[in-house]
Amino acid sequence: MDNGFIVAIDGPAAAGKGTVSKAVAAHFGFAHLDTGLLYRAVGAKVLAGSEPHKAARSLAPEDLESDSLRTPDVAQAASKVAVIAEVRAALLDFQRSFAARSGGAVLDGRDIGTVICPNADVKLFVTASAEVRAQRRFSELSERGIADSYETVLADVKARDARDMERVEAPLKPAADATIIDTSRLSIDEAVSAAVAAIAMAGGVKA
Ligand code: DC
Repeated sequence: MDNGFIVAIDGPAAAGKGTVSKAVAAHFGFAHLDTGLLYRAVGAKVLAGSEPHKAARSLAPEDLESDSLRTPDVAQAASKVAVIAEVRAALLDFQRSFAARSGGAVLDGRDIGTVICPNADVKLFVTASAEVRAQRRFSELSERGIADSYETVLADVKARDARDMERVEAPLKPAADATIIDTSRLSIDEAVSAAVAAIAMAGGVKA
């Protein structure tokens, strides 16, 4: 198969990888998959009473479209179902097929460079301190009228980090050949420019 260019972007919650991923996909004309949405959709189904592995196997495209996937409860539920090997296995083929599309693809998540696409053309690990990430998530939730305190958001970020990094199956960690982009002191534009530069250097061509 004539695979396109693959960009793997991993990192912890609220580090800016979603924003960076969308921007670089638009810049290079690549398709973008936010793989966290797959785990969020499974988490939402589990909160509604489904068995995790059944929810993962029966995921449909419309399950990824609900606005309710962006709530703190669903984020924690996603992080919990993500430790289950059967859930991860059920979501593997979809992610790999998406990555293999001919026009180029950006996938963002936790294990893209390590497990899903170990042969990606470029791997980025977008991170920031827990405090900076909590502050950003707190501002975003406040703007959406979700009234969690900064301390609650920081505790959630740390709990999710611990669960995502310490799990046995596909833990969150940078691939050995990933370029680390720490966005703690970067503006969005600076973070996007750093990502664009790394991708261009690896041979990505602007659409
Ligand atoms: O990127 P996000 O915050 O939407 O992800 C929600 C949760 O899903 C995250 O805490 C862990 C899990 N996840 C994962 O295990 N592997 C991925 N590739 C993406 C997300």
